[in-house]
Amino acid sequence: MTTDLLDAEFGSSLDEFLDREAVYWDEDRSAWYVTRYAEAQTVLKDDATFTRDDRFREGGLEFWRRGLAGMEGDTHRRTYFFHARQTSRSFAERITPSVIRPVAQSLIGPLVAAGRGDLAADYADPMPLLVGCRFMGFEIDDDDFRERIIALGRVRDRWKEALLTGPGCPLDSPVARAGSEAVDGLYELWLPTIRARREHPRDDLISALWAEGTRTFPDWGEDDMVASGWSDVFGGETKLLVRNLMYLLLTRPELRAQVASARELVPGLVEEGLRFMGPVRSLNKLVMQDVELGGQLLHAGDRVFVMLAAANRDPAIWESPRSFQVDRANASRLLSFGQGTRYCLGRFLARAEGVEAVNALLDADVDVELDSNGDPPAWAGAHTRSITPLHVTFAPRTLTER
Ligand code: HEM
Repeated sequence: MTTDLLDAEFGSSLDEFLDREAVYWDEDRSAWYVTRYAEAQTVLKDDATFTRDDRFREGGLEFWRRGLAGMEGDTHRRTYFFHARQTSRSFAERITPSVIRPVAQSLIGPLVAAGRGDLAADYADPMPLLVGCRFMGFEIDDDDFRERIIALGRVRDRWKEALLTGPGCPLDSPVARAGSEAVDGLYELWLPTIRARREHPRDDLISALWAEGTRTFPDWGEDDMVASGWSDVFGGETKLLVRNLMYLLLTRPELRAQVASARELVPGLVEEGLRFMGPVRSLNKLVMQDVELGGQLLHAGDRVFVMLAAANRDPAIWESPRSFQVDRANASRLLSFGQGTRYCLGRFLARAEGVEAVNALLDADVDVELDSNGDPPAWAGAHTRSITPLHVTFAPRTLTER
């Protein structure tokens, strides 16, 4: 191994924020930075004063279509609670043995058999999408459908990252054009099943969404069903979490051995992984009315970057915040899923997927190591942060190592 990417992250980009005041103005980026837990929490809980800024960015509304991120006020609240009922903790628990675990196992099995693979591209990346498609009720056993949906999802993710990283993403830019075509392609793939379930419901989320949706919203239709897909299926950040967890296991053999022999620690590993290397580094908000925050006066129209990665290391909340502790008592106070009005609806699913991804790798009971012949792992993304690629080799474990 050359540089440890987690250590390098502190030495460079994160220290810049950790050493600053709770709220400060950055002249170069023309934005306020919020670096401490209490102030970050205030922003996240007050959606009326600090709103999501995506819908004001060029191309934002076209990207989200009828999804939650583009909504506000009462419409947002009603739709938010509607989806919250679909992706609850009990839902995640129910689909863990029937959907999440089998998908994780079906992805790791062929890699182990081949003796090598990329734990990012071949494992972490397809997992959330396949899990989402299966619990929605789409047929992922059809290889063609599976391949197409993974490829289209990848193109849409690039569009999302471009939109969230810069000031916007013009619709005539190559990334937005490709992304928009991919979204149309996904519509085409999904619509036949969505239409069929309206007539002939089954025990799946599409059927439940038809039933609940038409009961809750008088004008509920196909577009809302597809938009629900965006909310419920595309938790694109989950794949980034799984990438980061894999990197952690690959580069911390003592940690891997510890959780392998005490599986009850795996949820704690995922929780601390979310705090320590949560995929969403910062949330961008727009100030809607003048407000005081952390001793500073923010004006309507100002941009605010809530540095979740820094707030998740606030020494006022966590003891030894720079150390990774699988048994950290208060890890779940993390801000990695946001909080308040727009608190992540996929947080139970994401956690369950993280746990199953780790367990499936540990269950394989093989030696796994970074492959020095492949491209080395590197940080990717700006708005989101994850480590990819993760080329590895698998080898049978020797008895003494067990
Ligand atoms: C590790 C994985 C994930 C992370 C780190 C994450 C992070 C976040 C964050 C930070 C927010 C707050 C946004 C804001 O305040 O502007 C959020 C909201 C949301 N997330 Fe996630 N998320 C993850 C997985 C998922 C999954 C799996 C789903 C879907 C099943 C999902 C669906 C949503 C939805 C619908 C919202 C609410 C958007 C709104 O009301 O505007 N997320 N997520």
